[in-house]
Amino acid sequence: MKRLPSLLLLPLMTITFTSQAEDGEALHLSQCIECHSRMTGGDGHVIYTRDKRIADNAVELKARVTHCANGANTGWNELQINAVTNYLNQQHYHY
Ligand code: HEC
Repeated sequence: MKRLPSLLLLPLMTITFTSQAEDGEALHLSQCIECHSRMTGGDGHVIYTRDKRIADNAVELKARVTHCANGANTGWNELQINAVTNYLNQQHYHY
């Protein structure tokens, strides 16, 4: 029975990673997409797939997410920035 707690860690870690991936999408939806949609007059996601993207590598992508998150006063911490960066990378950038 002494080993039980460490065995329980594995599923807990999986849940943490899963919810981080989901967080990125939810955070993006709540703080980011509206302004981009207003800018583009439609689906704001097109800004991530346009021809001349600002974020043309992984470092630039995170820098831009940080920049926009600060500009929008989200108060996001490093984990939240990373979650949104990963979400955008998986959905659109593929770096
Ligand atoms: C108040 C408006 C506004 C909000 C809110 C906003 N953005 Fe932006 N975002 C911009 C503008 C404007 C640009 C494009 C700047 C340009 O074209 O020079 C941009 C560009 C970007 C890009 C780069 C797109 C490319 O060309 O590769 C990323 C990534 C991005 N935003 C992420 C985010 C994230 C993540 C959030 C949520 C925290 C967010 N933005 C919230 C205004 C906003």
